[in-house]
Amino acid sequence: MKIDLKGKNILVTGGAGDGLGQGICEAVDEAGGRVIVNDLTLEMAKEAAEKYNNALAVEGDISKVEDVNRMFDEMKSACGTIHGVVNNAGIGLGKNAIDAEETEVDRLYEVDVKGIWMVSRAFVKQLLAYGEVGNIVNISSIQAFATMHRMAIYAGFKSAVNGMTRGLAVELGQYNIRCNAIAPGLVYSEQSLHMIGKWTPDPVKWMEDHKTDHQCLDFFTSARDCGNVVVFLLSDLSRSITGQTICVDNGTINLLYNNEYTS
Ligand SMILES: NC(=O)c1ccc[n+]([C@@H]2O[C@H](COP(=O)([O-])OP(=O)(O)OC[C@H]3O[C@@H](n4cnc5c(N)ncnc54)[C@H](O)[C@@H]3O)[C@@H](O)[C@H]2O)c1
Repeated sequence: MKIDLKGKNILVTGGAGDGLGQGICEAVDEAGGRVIVNDLTLEMAKEAAEKYNNALAVEGDISKVEDVNRMFDEMKSACGTIHGVVNNAGIGLGKNAIDAEETEVDRLYEVDVKGIWMVSRAFVKQLLAYGEVGNIVNISSIQAFATMHRMAIYAGFKSAVNGMTRGLAVELGQYNIRCNAIAPGLVYSEQSLHMIGKWTPDPVKWMEDHKTDHQCLDFFTSARDCGNVVVFLLSDLSRSITGQTICVDNGTINLLYNNEYTS
């Protein structure tokens, strides 16, 4: 038994990112799927797409409806039906709620919540128009389950992603379209280091401490670990799973104390 995405076109938004985007694209590619890499510029998307077999690059800001609609038109002409969408593109905001600016909160919402809705809407409309079935996988965060200082807004919006995942599963089940999410813990990426760098001068040490003190497993969750769960959710092996958010977090969310490591 193996995960087989042969013949499937899979859009990965924010797929040029050095974090989860890369791990997800790699896993889709290895499972035999055709990766469609989206990112903010064609240059970024093309550079990433070169790493995968027969991959396609599509430029677009997923927070802009005109970009999203154009992307789906371009993908349709270039490779036909899209069978899966991974809503990975996202930005962070490491600020206490009382210090955040309205423009920052609006931008976070536009990308991390509204963007997922717009991409999912365009995807489902295309599936229904051509009588096809497909799958959505959203990238949430463990911040949606338990959070920390400077994360209230991000945590709130990732909770919205979990809610939308449940709701889309309810509405789309009648078409045999599934919608699930993964909630990664801390994964090495430019975005993580940049955000952690806002509150500590040594983000790498902060991450090491997090690994020791806040995970059951004593290694980092990799982008590829996340990609592996994503391809499972995209594949028929998970055909009975919809509306779920699966934590990929090395046991962070279930851990209260990790005294064995610290004593
Ligand atoms: N890194 C982590 O520890 C972690 C943990 C939990 C959840 N996540 C989530 O995983 C996803 C990927 O994050 P990452 O850490 O790998 O970040 P990253 O910065 O490495 O990658 C994000 C990519 O999305 C792209 N992007 C940003 N805004 C976009 C837009 N409007 N349209 C299209 N592309 C856009 C960026 O250019 C970048 O390439 C995000 O949704 C993030 O919230 C990350």
